[in-house]
Amino acid sequence: MCDRLLLEGHTVVGLDNLLTGSLDNLAHLNSSSSFRFVQHDVNQPLDGFDPGGAADAVLHMASAASPKDYLAHPIETLEVGSVGTRNMLELARAHSARFLITSTSECYGDPLVHPQVETYWGNVNPVGPRSCYDESKRFAEAMTMAYHRTHSVRTNIARIFNTYGPRMQLNDGRVVPAFMDQALRGEPLTVFGDGSQTRSFCYVSDLVDGLYRLMLSEERYPVNLGNPHEMTILDFATHIIRLTNSSSTVVREALPEDDPRQRRPDISKARRVLGWEPVVPLEEGLKHTADFFRRKVSAQEA
Ligand SMILES: NC(=O)c1ccc[n+]([C@@H]2O[C@H](COP(=O)([O-])OP(=O)(O)OC[C@H]3O[C@@H](n4cnc5c(N)ncnc54)[C@H](O)[C@@H]3O)[C@@H](O)[C@H]2O)c1
Repeated sequence: MCDRLLLEGHTVVGLDNLLTGSLDNLAHLNSSSSFRFVQHDVNQPLDGFDPGGAADAVLHMASAASPKDYLAHPIETLEVGSVGTRNMLELARAHSARFLITSTSECYGDPLVHPQVETYWGNVNPVGPRSCYDESKRFAEAMTMAYHRTHSVRTNIARIFNTYGPRMQLNDGRVVPAFMDQALRGEPLTVFGDGSQTRSFCYVSDLVDGLYRLMLSEERYPVNLGNPHEMTILDFATHIIRLTNSSSTVVREALPEDDPRQRRPDISKARRVLGWEPVVPLEEGLKHTADFFRRKVSAQEA
């Protein structure tokens, strides 16, 4: 997102507490005079924070984002959707800036409507282990709408479906890095349940383009951003084994609690309101991602 904003000629200040992020991902921006990094926990007050002039937009993308990370940090995850969202909304309000929040398809829980459309209110277990993430994002959406209605902040809500690409952490626990890591090391790929559960995978550049368009739009209600091409996890595992020329097999493990059975975004609204749809084919996106992970695995093994 930072790369895209800089490419569009904006000046960017990145705030991150590095809970799950890595400075390596920003190394290429070290010499950019239009980019500044501030290590900060957005759950803490921003008193005295000076973005270096008037801010035009606040993009609140901070959160533990993988099941492994939010299950390890449930309280911080609930805080970043609640306290963190409020702090970022206050920052936007103070600067009369636009505000965008990256919410999630997890707001739909284990959906009873398929594909998922924005008007579906979801089927979320509010007290299950994953609720720290799902309910944090649902609260964040509610807080965002409250700031829009009460303080007229120009808000946008993106409901992101599984997105992948270079710069993810190898051990992040999400399906693409997990499968890539295992395939590139020749280890068996871990498939939960019988692998018939479905997911849809969006390449990062497509997603960033959707977010950028949404940020410039006047749409206040949530917009799904994701790739509607749906496949079973078992098919996806086979695809990755083939693409990486790996000799890996597949092992099965028990399904995690509240794991959604089906996931596919209905992106009619994004097509209509933003003129957006994904353009990067899965094969191409996975190839870029595999190149990145291959370098990471080689560096670790060296
Ligand atoms: N990638 C996906 O498939 C996906 C799907 C749905 C929603 N999202 C949402 O999109 C956003 C970005 O996700 P990503 O995949 O790029 O994840 P990411 O882990 O690469 O980025 C999230 C960043 O937030 C930072 N962070 C966490 N808590 C923080 C805090 N209290 N203060 C400051 N920084 C904090 C982390 O250190 C990390 O760098 C997240 O809000 C995530 O919930 C992502």
